[in-house]
Amino acid sequence: MPLEVVILAAGEGKRMRSHLPKVLHRLAGKPIVEHVQEVAATLNPAKMHLVIQPQQRAHFSRLCSQNHSNFVPQEEQLGTAHAVAQAIPQIDDDATVLVLCGDAPLVRSRTLQACAKRASETVALVSALVDDPSGFGRILRADNGAVNGIVEHRDATEDQLTIREINSGIIGAPKELLARLLPEVQAENEQREYYLTDLIGLASSKGLPIECVVAEDAEEALGINDRVQLADVERRMQRRRANDLLLQGVGMADPARLDIRGSLKAGRDCYLDVNVVFEGDVVLGSDVQIGPGCVIKDCEIADSAIVKAHSVLENANVGRRCEIGPYARIRPGSVLEQDVRVGNFVEVKAAQLGEGTKAGHLAYIGDAELGTNVNVGAGAITCNFDGKDKHRTVIGDDVFVGTNCTLVAPLKVENSAFLAAGSTITKDVEGDALAVGRTRQRIIKNWRSSSRRKR
Ligand code: UD1
Ligand code: CA
Repeated sequence: MPLEVVILAAGEGKRMRSHLPKVLHRLAGKPIVEHVQEVAATLNPAKMHLVIQPQQRAHFSRLCSQNHSNFVPQEEQLGTAHAVAQAIPQIDDDATVLVLCGDAPLVRSRTLQACAKRASETVALVSALVDDPSGFGRILRADNGAVNGIVEHRDATEDQLTIREINSGIIGAPKELLARLLPEVQAENEQREYYLTDLIGLASSKGLPIECVVAEDAEEALGINDRVQLADVERRMQRRRANDLLLQGVGMADPARLDIRGSLKAGRDCYLDVNVVFEGDVVLGSDVQIGPGCVIKDCEIADSAIVKAHSVLENANVGRRCEIGPYARIRPGSVLEQDVRVGNFVEVKAAQLGEGTKAGHLAYIGDAELGTNVNVGAGAITCNFDGKDKHRTVIGDDVFVGTNCTLVAPLKVENSAFLAAGSTITKDVEGDALAVGRTRQRIIKNWRSSSRRKR
């Protein structure tokens, strides 16, 4: 039977106290619901349906198209059963349906697989055993252990509140069974809502067997209703990622102080110091060392490169054995070939630095192409912008750029040229030449004593 997934994501999520719909708050760099879509996609469903509030459609359009999800409007948030009922007309009659909550992103693929498998014949759900069940629906079981209902926290008796087996919110069933049971759900509860959880009691009263998958890991059931829970789930998700990396052979100073807001691939024996933030897609070779406090976004960093403390890199390609930082900034479009060194307070933008080139301190290299073994002195600046347009600076191999040189682009400096310290270079320099572009030093003797006399 084909599988179709329904993700419930309608509503403002009042407890977030935000203008943004709850499931669009960022978790590990992307909307909460996108994590749910991604784990659902691992089951290769025939279709995915996202139930949302129609006024919020614009917010969700990227998520729907990118993750091949159907958009299902739910005009009024009358409860989770009502939300699923809105999707029913869009689901094929012979499908198995798996319902997920858009606010519960920690569920694992294998748990969903187990639930989907059991849901092809009858009603199936995912539960978890937790230490603190408050706020969750509680699983009710008969004396023989069979699940026969779910009671929401608000509607539970004193006795039922002591139950530690909770409802994850994940429910599956064949479409025709779901379509038959949903209209029977009543809003007879404290919130006057149509609860999807009532499906369990209904099915059980009709003598249908209820299949229950207990999640291996209790945190899989955690939903996000407020910002405290969002912060908690963020740390748990980050810890999972850190653990995966540790098991793959990546060393780190403290797995609790690492943030991966995107994807990180890292080879063996990389080492991540504390408080490193990765964004977008980052690929590290092997033996790469990242110092404390670095922010690295959409970069590829090759084997044995070292990025020292508090460096910020974005959209850059860093070659083998490069040394960057501390306090370096590598901006988009930069390519550093192997053995390049970029030291403290150096900014590189849309520039290519050839093998062995060094810019040790306090320089700006923008819209430039530097050959191999170029030495860029402290304070050297490429003047790439004339107030209107950007221009390129092209520097050959083995060039020496003296301290405090101002390179006014467009400019070409050929191989082995030497630019004297403090020069303003406005004209192209041929190979092997010395370019001096500064006023000569003058000496006025006895100046101090003569000026003192005048005063
Ligand atoms: C729900 C379950 C509860 C379970 C918990 C797990 C019900 C009635 N309760 O409670 O048993 O322990 O999840 O986290 O199902 N939504 C809609 N339309 C609606 C109402 C909700 O799309 O009309 C969506 C929400 O956006 C949310 C999800 O359904 O993503 C769950 O709703 P929520 O209000 O968070 O339910 P809980 O009180 O957490
Ligand atoms: Ca919830």
